[in-house]
Formats: sequence, structure tokens, C-alpha cells
Amino acid sequence: MMRCCAKVRVHTLNAHRSKSSFSAALAAVSKLVTPSIMLRNPVSLVSNEMNTLAKNIMALIGSGHPVLNRVTSYYFETEGKKVRPLLVLLLSRALAEIPLEQRTQNLIDSVDVPEDPIYSRPPKSLLFEPPANNLSPLDILHGIKPLNPLTKGPEPLPEAEFDHDRGILPKQRRLAEIVEMIHTASLLHDDVIDHSDTRRGRASGNVAFTNKMAVLAGDFLLGRATVAISRLRNPEVAELMSNSIANLVEGEFMQLQNTAVEDTSVINQGTKPLPAASKTLNNEVHDYRVPRAVGEGFTHEQILETAFDYYLHKTYLKTAALISKSSRAAAILSGVDRTVVDQCYEFGKNIGICFQLVDDMLDFTVSAKNLGKPAGADLELGIATSPVLFAWKADPSLGPLIERNFSHPGDIERTAEAVAKYNGVLETRKLAERYRDQALSNLRKALPESDARSALEFLTNSILTRGK
Ligand code: FPP
Ligand code: MG
Repeated sequence: MMRCCAKVRVHTLNAHRSKSSFSAALAAVSKLVTPSIMLRNPVSLVSNEMNTLAKNIMALIGSGHPVLNRVTSYYFETEGKKVRPLLVLLLSRALAEIPLEQRTQNLIDSVDVPEDPIYSRPPKSLLFEPPANNLSPLDILHGIKPLNPLTKGPEPLPEAEFDHDRGILPKQRRLAEIVEMIHTASLLHDDVIDHSDTRRGRASGNVAFTNKMAVLAGDFLLGRATVAISRLRNPEVAELMSNSIANLVEGEFMQLQNTAVEDTSVINQGTKPLPAASKTLNNEVHDYRVPRAVGEGFTHEQILETAFDYYLHKTYLKTAALISKSSRAAAILSGVDRTVVDQCYEFGKNIGICFQLVDDMLDFTVSAKNLGKPAGADLELGIATSPVLFAWKADPSLGPLIERNFSHPGDIERTAEAVAKYNGVLETRKLAERYRDQALSNLRKALPESDARSALEFLTNSILTRGK
């Protein structure tokens, strides 16, 4: 012990004597262990694309209706985290580091996205002009009037060049824009469903414009996202991205039902039965509930296990599906080996689940002012997220409160206390760390070392330290 202290003192004295040379050495060492890109900014690798993202999206969503334009562009006006397009772009750059001989070169989709005919000049003869390059003629796209004022938009986008140095393909760039459009559409709808009054530090779309306009603007964004998806002319990518939209809705539906213990045959807090399914269509409701009471032969542990399965599946659909499917799509476009495509998909899945776990954690720990959106909203909405499930694991008496969506007076306070008492937030953090570690391992398996991979690793690590 004495020896150790003496050693420390000597070390400290030496350090004092040569402070400047010590800090110089430290800086040199940190440069060796920190990839040079981190000393700047991981986003800098794709800053060109990120800086023009919103402007390019504007060109894809332009409509001649002034109010529709206001609502659809509203969420793009404020700085969101833009995690989804950032991941697509960084992944695209990192995939470009894979040597060409390891890729199926004829599958590298370096063709540019065709010009958007909605904004191109009308053909001379609307009746006899043949459809160019399998795109529908303008009179069809514009509706019954060839120059329908509602579909007039801003100037066409300049043709995107394949940037050989940076390696991001034009279609990968468009994919990043599509992902942000789908995400923004889902936020417009989500704020209506959640009755949210703020987003990104100002009035949410539903409050600023009404529920009706917010829903319609979300639908319009989805419509235009679908146009952009079809113009990628890649059936596998189109299938993935279209399904990611369906997955978002499935995830929201699972959340409406909240947990695996609720009755699927009724709605409105159990007060109204669902209309009976048609016998001829064979569309019976598939009931995947667990028997509610421990007395029905299931232990508390088994019920909890099913509840976690349900929650994580919902989390995949609601948040990770869009990230994982767009990560997979970026890999497909770059023509890499199927094992790499699979790892990219797994990366997106793991980072997406980690991201939502942290979101559910922050709902308990951060104030509304810092979040820029309502805090403590999940309990208010009757939703049991991971911190509550961990508290339920420790305290089985929370079951009835969860099942009735915290609707009785005092339910929310009691649950919040249980989350604090049984470290629901800390346990959620540990779970998020496991998904983060999986995501890091996927990156290392899929990609060669590069600045872009380091930036992705940095981003993956920073999800757990984010404050909003
Ligand atoms: C935010 O969750 C919402 C989502 C991640 C997905 C919402 C999906 C839908 C509303 C389905 C409809 C989808 C489309 C594409 C129109 P949150 O409420 O936990 O997060 P928040 O605190 O940011 O609101
Ligand atoms: Mg919400």
C-alpha cells in the first residue's frame, strides 16, 4: 500500500514537472487510440448528404396546395435527430469500403434514380406520348387534369452523380430520404394517437394544424415515399421498405393492446366487444394472450417472459423494423455478399431496439423541457414499457394495474414508485446495453475497418448516453 502511494506521488511530481510534455504525450496517445474521424465529428463523413437531406425531401413532397405543403414540411423545419438517414448514409459509406472483388459487381446498383416526372415538363402530346422508361405518363400521374395545380412542385432535383470517392450510391442517398419521410409520416400520426401537444420543442402537428390535417399530411408523405420507393426500381428493396411501413402500423396496434395480458376480443378498456369476424374470409382474431392469472397454471415468471417477448416484438415492429429494413436495403444496393446483408439487417434490428429501450427509459428520467416532447407520457397513455415490466417482475401485485392501463386514481403514482424502488430504469439500461453490444458485434462482422465503421460504432455507443 505504502509503495503504491509513493509511486503515485512520484508519478504526480513528475507529471507536475513536465506538464506540457505530458499533455502533448496524452494528445498523441489519444490520437492513436481514437480514430481521426472521431476527433472531428462522425457526421462529417456524410455531412454533404445530411445538409441537403431536408431540401431534397422538399422536392419529393411538393404539392400545389399551400396548406398541405405547410403541414407536410412542418416537422422537417426543426432539427430532429435524423438518426435513421444518418445510419443509412454511414452504413452506405462503410459498405463502399468492401473491396469490389468481394461484391457481386453486376448487382451494385449504381444507376441514378430517374427524374421525378411529377415535376418534369409535360410531354408535347399528352395523348400519344408513350410512357418513358416504364414510368407512367404525366397525365396519369397528375390526375384527370394534365397540369393539376395540386401536383405542381418545386424545381426538379439536379441529377445525382455517383460519388466514387465517398462511395454513396444515388439510390442509397434517396433511400436515406425515403426513411426520413416514412419516419416523419409516422410521427404526424403518432402525435394524433398519443394526443401529444409538443414535438421538437414546439407545437406538434396535430396541435398546430388539427388532427385531420396531421393525419392527411402523414398519408401524403407516405404516398410520396411510395413513389420514391418504386423509382428505386429494385423489387427486393421495394418489398423491404413497403413492409417497414406495414410493420410500423402492426407495432402501433400491438401498443394499443399494450401487453400480452390484455383481452384481444374487446376495445375501449374492455367495455366494447370487437365486431365478429366474417366466417367466409377466414379472418378470425388470432389470440396470442397468455392466461392472465397465475392460478390458470402459469407461473409469474412465465407470464413475465411472455410479456417481455410481446414488448420486444412490438419494439422491433414500431422502431427497429424501419431501421433494420433500410440497413438491409442499403447493403442490397451495394451488391455485397448475403452474409453481410444479413449482418446489416441484424445491426439495424439491434440498434433499433436499443434506441427504443433508451426512449422508454428517458420517458421516466428526463423532463418535458429537455425532451422537447411530453415526458412521463407512457404511463399517462396506459402503456407499460420496459421499466414497468422490470418493476412488475419484482412486484407481481402491479399486474392488475397494468391490465387496466393505469386507469384508476393512484395507479400511475404507484407504478412510478415501483419503477424507482425496483430499479426499472437501471434494468432497462442493462438490457439496452446488451442490444448495443450485439449491434457493435454485427458491425465488426459485416464491415472492414474504416472511418465510416468507426463513426457507426461511435453512434451506436452514444445511443446510451443521449439525453433526448
Ligand atoms: C413514436 O413512438 C412512434 C413510432 C416509432 C411509430 C408510430 C407509428 C404509427 C403511428 C403507425 C402509422 C405509421 C405510418 C408510417 C403512418 P413513441 O410515441 O414511443 O415516441 P414519442 O415519444 O417520440 O412520441
Ligand atoms: Mg408518441
